[in-house]
Amino acid sequence: MRPANLKTRIFLDGGNPDETKQVIALLGFLDGQTTNPTLISRNPEAKARLKRGERFSGKEVLNFYRQVVQEISRLIPDGSISIEVYADLSTSAEEMLRQGKEMFSWIPNAHIKFPSSREGLKSAQKAIKEKMRVNMTLCFSQEQAAAVYAATFGAKKGEVFVSPFIGRLDDRGENGMDLISNITRMYQKGDGHVEVLTASVRKIGHLLYALKLGSDIITAPFEILKEWGRMGLPIPDKNYAYDSGNLHPLPFKEIELTKPWEEYDIGHELTVKGMEQFSKDWNALIK
Ligand code: E4P
Repeated sequence: MRPANLKTRIFLDGGNPDETKQVIALLGFLDGQTTNPTLISRNPEAKARLKRGERFSGKEVLNFYRQVVQEISRLIPDGSISIEVYADLSTSAEEMLRQGKEMFSWIPNAHIKFPSSREGLKSAQKAIKEKMRVNMTLCFSQEQAAAVYAATFGAKKGEVFVSPFIGRLDDRGENGMDLISNITRMYQKGDGHVEVLTASVRKIGHLLYALKLGSDIITAPFEILKEWGRMGLPIPDKNYAYDSGNLHPLPFKEIELTKPWEEYDIGHELTVKGMEQFSKDWNALIK
């Protein structure tokens, strides 16, 4: 059962509908799901197919992705399901938007994931004008989150998520959780149209601290949600202290939200690396 004092929406991060069913059974609720090309490439059916030496054609892989998200959508009809466009470093905004439009038509409750890169932001800006919902992924800096806010200004609450990737910052010695607290603080000056979706969750401490920080949404892998469920769905109070160990703090920056989005310095090497890895994992599925 959903705890009465739980304000944050809880999503599953994964590409396997069997996990969705199990999480719903275990927690008694689930507010949505995020997928990405890597997670779809780890879907057991996709893996079995590759093991047999049968790769997908370009058309088949999209059909497969559509079927997976349609199944998830049936399991969480009132939630949000994030579907990610294919974007390598040369994919244009027009191409991302074209894919996004097609994916948005797959299910009634989609958010389309675009990278927090220049081309990704361009497509998101257009997508919002065309009444699509978006989830800006691979966000690693406050500047990127400010640009997401500015590029989607005018959208209504619920139409835009920004996904700061905590675990990948931790992996290189930076305290990813600081990014959640910094973006949340920066957005307090705004109109609330962008919701913070804590992503790249690797440990229960990430989930608990994101709950304490009041993240709008948290997406977490199956194992972490199972652990939280087994713990009895605790929601930390003000006394909860997150142990960031030796991770390097990310200081808060005073950033205005009102500039044209193109003026923010949004480059981040982890966004580039992330786009390379997602496209590599996707291409490995295709003949
Ligand atoms: C979710 O939207 C993200 O794609 C996901 O949380 C990334 O997690 P990872 O850094 O463990 O790949």
